[in-house]
Amino acid sequence: MNDVKTPAPVSAPDPAASTGLEGQDALWYKDAVIYQLNVKSFFDSNDDGIGDFKGLTSKLEYIRDLGVNTIWLMPFYPSPLKDDGYDISDYQNVHPQYGTLDDFRAMLNEAHRLGLKVITELVINHTSDQHPWFQAARTAPPGSPQRDFYVWSDTDQKYLDTRIIFTDTESSNWAWDPVAKAYYWHRFFSHQPDLNFDNPKVLEAVLQTMRFWFDMGVDGFRLDAIPYLVEREGTNNENLRETHAVIKQLRAAIDAHYENRFLLAEANQWPEDVREYFGDGDECHMAYHFPLMPRIYMAIAQADRYPIIEIMQQTPDIPDSCQWAIFLRNHDELTLEMVTSKERDYMYTTYAADLQARINLGIRRRLAPLMENDLDRIKLMNSLLLSMPGSPILYYGDEIGMGDNFFIGDRNGVRTPMQWSPDRNAGFSRADPQRLYLPPIMDAVYGYPSTNVEAQSRDPSSLLSWTKRLLAVRKTSRSFGRGARRFLRPGNRKILAYLREFGDDTILCVANLSRSAQPVELNLSSFKGRVPVEMLGRTAFPPIGELPYLLTISAYGFYWFRLTTDAEVPSWHEQIVSIDERPVLVLFDGWTSLFRDRVVPWRIGIAEKTRLQFETDTLPRYIETQRWYAAKGAAIERARFADHVLWQEGKVSWLVTLLDLEAAGEHASYFMPLALAWEERDEERVRNLSTAGVAKIRQQANVGVMGDAFADEIFCRSVVAAMAARKEVATSQGKLQFRKTSAFGRLAGKDFSTLKVERPRGSSSNTVVTIGERLILKGYRRLRTGSNPELEMGRYLTEVAHYPNCAPLAGALEYVANDGEARLLAMLQGYVANQGDGWTHSLEYVQRHLEQYRTTPAGDLAPVNAHEAYLALMRVTSGGVASTVFM
Ligand code: NOJ
Ligand code: CA
Repeated sequence: MNDVKTPAPVSAPDPAASTGLEGQDALWYKDAVIYQLNVKSFFDSNDDGIGDFKGLTSKLEYIRDLGVNTIWLMPFYPSPLKDDGYDISDYQNVHPQYGTLDDFRAMLNEAHRLGLKVITELVINHTSDQHPWFQAARTAPPGSPQRDFYVWSDTDQKYLDTRIIFTDTESSNWAWDPVAKAYYWHRFFSHQPDLNFDNPKVLEAVLQTMRFWFDMGVDGFRLDAIPYLVEREGTNNENLRETHAVIKQLRAAIDAHYENRFLLAEANQWPEDVREYFGDGDECHMAYHFPLMPRIYMAIAQADRYPIIEIMQQTPDIPDSCQWAIFLRNHDELTLEMVTSKERDYMYTTYAADLQARINLGIRRRLAPLMENDLDRIKLMNSLLLSMPGSPILYYGDEIGMGDNFFIGDRNGVRTPMQWSPDRNAGFSRADPQRLYLPPIMDAVYGYPSTNVEAQSRDPSSLLSWTKRLLAVRKTSRSFGRGARRFLRPGNRKILAYLREFGDDTILCVANLSRSAQPVELNLSSFKGRVPVEMLGRTAFPPIGELPYLLTISAYGFYWFRLTTDAEVPSWHEQIVSIDERPVLVLFDGWTSLFRDRVVPWRIGIAEKTRLQFETDTLPRYIETQRWYAAKGAAIERARFADHVLWQEGKVSWLVTLLDLEAAGEHASYFMPLALAWEERDEERVRNLSTAGVAKIRQQANVGVMGDAFADEIFCRSVVAAMAARKEVATSQGKLQFRKTSAFGRLAGKDFSTLKVERPRGSSSNTVVTIGERLILKGYRRLRTGSNPELEMGRYLTEVAHYPNCAPLAGALEYVANDGEARLLAMLQGYVANQGDGWTHSLEYVQRHLEQYRTTPAGDLAPVNAHEAYLALMRVTSGGVASTVFM
């Protein structure tokens, strides 16, 4: 079969499609997955060594295909670039090295066409000292509106309770201006004077800037350094009421004039202080969760969930319309301002043993080097980022595990060119390497020859391919962006487990924070009956039961499970309902208690009641939980005895029934042999029968179990023995007919009555019992009239064709009604070790093929004969049998 066609490559789905981003959803930012990048670092279209808007536009499809839906651009405005553009000298233009305003517009339109939102920076705490406002202020007379655009003082001894942020470069928040002959206030670098929000003209100018970009179509703003807008003596000048009043005015202007836009607060503060930036839903739509970020690193360094749980518990609720922004890394140092000094020491020794890696109060490294390039740890970190409450932000280059270079000063080591390919300058630019704005990473581990987009796109197991898969999976549930979060408290603290719940959708996230495999028992009893489906592989796990849910997780492993109500239980799973959950049936006279015509007259009433309870409650509740019950989900109203016999062998008797099951108005015929075992007489039998217990039973002070007779060793042996003897047992409406084939003796041997009988395994239509690895007794449940093809084929292959490659037939048990109609109840076959079945094998083959196909880059098509091995196997397993039978 050489004509198996390889289908055309499937492109990634439109990321906006399932998130509602394409619609006018005012809360779109709750479903956002944000990709942060600097235009200068992404792609250089004109070979001058600096990335630009045309370059970015040409790479938007890459960003879209990654599976994010929003991009955040760091400042691209005219600037002396002493703080990488956060020192702005013109708020309403584009730095010429990145292109023109038209280039920006073209980029914005293309992003929107691809379903990507674009957010930019509103840096209003400070300007560059080169901004015309500052140049005018220096020379304007003190007290004039121009002068008052900034914060001036005759002394540098004001606001002394204010901390210094850039501790490595600045020693004061005041700088002397020789032209103005006064000190000006700056919270960051001394070349970044703070704007004075006590001057109404400043807010006016800021609002104008905001409108300028919103009118162009920008979707949102990151509000840089927002806690520091206003200063007051005697305070620490952070988070002041007056600052919040300014933000409320920005928000009011948005609500009055725009739809579906948002503000993101960059407030590096403790949770209770950040909470204020949401106001009553009348300030920012989003705010970064700065304290969470270092604690994620701490938790996996200490293999303990405590730091994460603790900070999340200290995180106040936020208004419904608001959302956290969460991140692992960004363009700045990994800030340790929001940890205690002890925790900071720990973080420094763990993650920045090299002193060069430290800057200000933080660590200037990227994600992959922080994780020592351990792919498992990198994935675990990303799994937390993408499943904790909030909209996650990915920093460009981290999706391929880019490295850093802290020898190149300030925070530039994490701002190097994007690594596209192993070509010159990482495929980022064709300029002379000397002209690049920064050298690309070149070391042996993280350098662009080995770490780049091109190579990882071709590799289905690369970090890039994996990240795409995880992002695609995240998109299948709104719980991640919008759901509530609930931590579980398993005894093993190395495991972080939490639920994300939104409407009917419940996701369970479980992460092993330690470097070794870990077991965990989760209390999921409120989800009893649900089937956890692992979201990356779509594998169904055993349903949640009464007992703690046991999982083992590999080192740094994690699971995302959807707790489903409708997924199929895995086919191999056996549901054992604890016998304690079964009702008690009072059998005052053994089996007889169920038959009104066999008890003494004064017991007739009780016998009728017992039978009614048995047929309308006891049996239905048991059968409904069985895998072989075909009408799953349909409650059984009654399980009537259509025929029965009390089959006695020696001292033991079984009630062999053919039931008429009535469910949802439909009737179906089922085979159900039942056994009794009493604690006083035989504890082992009670134990075995309890695994398939229909009811607890009591007769006076004697207690025991009634169960499915296939779980009774003596019953199974007796069936085999009856086949050997070709017995017939009369029932009330027909007979049980036991048969054997000519192969019986060869297959069962002489000693078959001494063979060990295993516990039965249920499948979707029958119950299978293995007898001494020699025989298999297969009990059919749903009964159909007419000849049974499995029996007929088995007989033919065993007795006529003597075909060696099938499970040979040793015997059968049939029910023959008085009208002569026969139904197959059980078959005895020679034991063949399980090698799986053709159907499951084929399904899994197709699944693997499609998965591989999804992750294989276009162009790398499978060879035409790629399926030859599979087809050959199918010819042997199915074709062989078919041709033998139908020759
Ligand atoms: C916060 C930015 O993230 C950082 O890069 C910058 O240096 C400061 N604001 C000052 O603008
Ligand atoms: Ca350029």
